[in-house]
Amino acid sequence: MYTERMMEHTQAATPIWDALLRHAEIERVSVHVPGHKAGQGLPGAFAACARRLARLDATELPGLDDLHAPRDAILQAEQLAARAWGSDHTFFLVGGSTAGNLAALLATLRPGDQAVVPRNAHQSVWHGLKLARAQAVVVTPDTAPYGVPGAVPPERIARALAEFPRVSAIVVISPTYHGIVSALPAIVRLGRANNIPVIVDEAHGAHLSFHPQLPMSGVQAGADIVVQSAHKMLPALTQTALLHLNGGRVGIDRMRDWLRVVQTSSPSYLLLASLDSARAQLATEGADLIGKAIGRLAAAARRLEATAPGLVNAGAAGARQDPFKWTVSSSLLGMSGYETERALRERFGVFAELSHENHVLFAWSYANSRRDVDAVSEALRKLAEECGQKRIRPPETWGIPAAWSADAVLIDAQQETSSAPLTISLHKAVGKRMAAPLTPYPPGIPCVLPGETLSPTVCEMVLRMLDQGVRVDGLADSEEPSVHCWE
Ligand SMILES: Cc1ncc(COP(=O)(O)O)c(C=O)c1O
Repeated sequence: MYTERMMEHTQAATPIWDALLRHAEIERVSVHVPGHKAGQGLPGAFAACARRLARLDATELPGLDDLHAPRDAILQAEQLAARAWGSDHTFFLVGGSTAGNLAALLATLRPGDQAVVPRNAHQSVWHGLKLARAQAVVVTPDTAPYGVPGAVPPERIARALAEFPRVSAIVVISPTYHGIVSALPAIVRLGRANNIPVIVDEAHGAHLSFHPQLPMSGVQAGADIVVQSAHKMLPALTQTALLHLNGGRVGIDRMRDWLRVVQTSSPSYLLLASLDSARAQLATEGADLIGKAIGRLAAAARRLEATAPGLVNAGAAGARQDPFKWTVSSSLLGMSGYETERALRERFGVFAELSHENHVLFAWSYANSRRDVDAVSEALRKLAEECGQKRIRPPETWGIPAAWSADAVLIDAQQETSSAPLTISLHKAVGKRMAAPLTPYPPGIPCVLPGETLSPTVCEMVLRMLDQGVRVDGLADSEEPSVHCWE
């Protein structure tokens, strides 16, 4: 299957890049946007680096097609992407998975509809429900190592569907931020049995379809809509993403209409061309590049396990965890995750993806060199050696899943508008109903949703995060940490 797919792409065609390079060579007077006029008006130091790129920063000029009504280079590139990932139809996105999730929910839900949503959904999913004026039937994920949110078992979704028979879509986050995948084939079967679409937020899994040792992707499982951030796990520019459609339950035109609503009318061709070239590379060499990277990471993880047992959870081939995500137990280094992150950054120049109380998360990609892997391994080995026997007791959870209900609960993402919410200090808001979510970023998962009561656990956790310099969205603009809530 992988070889067949690669054969289709041997000429490594990149229609958007080709059109864009032809366009950049044209001698012209630019009396069209953007305002930097092919780079000639870029200011100061920025210009020195960016002039060549700026010639490629084009708009929908003749020969360059149109993202919102593609007929030429963009259509060809999207068709090549559909073949590479194995979907019925693929859209290129320039607004990240955020735009994909918003459009997916708006295209499948009508006001008052209900969707099964995992409690650890990214804020873009909650925003999509709010825009769609839909309700969430919230299901709790399993707790994974280090207390992070894991997979949602299909049986839990089946129970929610039985309890809430009006549900008209299922949302799954797979893989999670920490790389844990759900049992997608069983969840897709549930969707089919109930004739409702399954939407997979696969923001962290654009690479999964390209190597047999990686967990199954939503596209391979036949999910109706799969949203992927190309920029997270592939060598593609920030904001690039893909939305794949399968099975015909959700119409192409309806999806295109909603993508036009949530995305800019001036998409960047640099982003589109970056998507095009990442697709060409994956389709032609992806299996080889990914295979080699899996080997490098597995060998490094084995070596670390021999010197510092249990320090790194690196997944394993065939397991329900992406081997490109490593969770490092900071407790085994005698530090909090925040301290470990700082030590790695300040002493070794290693910048991690995310830190929390008891762990640090690394997001690798096949673009990481052997040198990168060696540098990270060496830094971890050094920190483990310095720590010696000084272990701190690992907290059992990172607090969030423990505070979540085990039963499916109905949450209305709409905010009440009849009265204005109060703004009160965080610790005084315990026991009050929240008017806005509180969302630590990363990972962008709300720890309390609008309509939910603020618990002492979540309040303490947010205060600890603020103490450590973590950004928490949704706080009121005031000197002491305050929130918006209902009386
Ligand atoms: C699970 C999940 N979904 C969606 C998103 C949004 O992705 P993007 O940044 O591409 O808009 C994120 C971002 O962190 C995410 O973690």
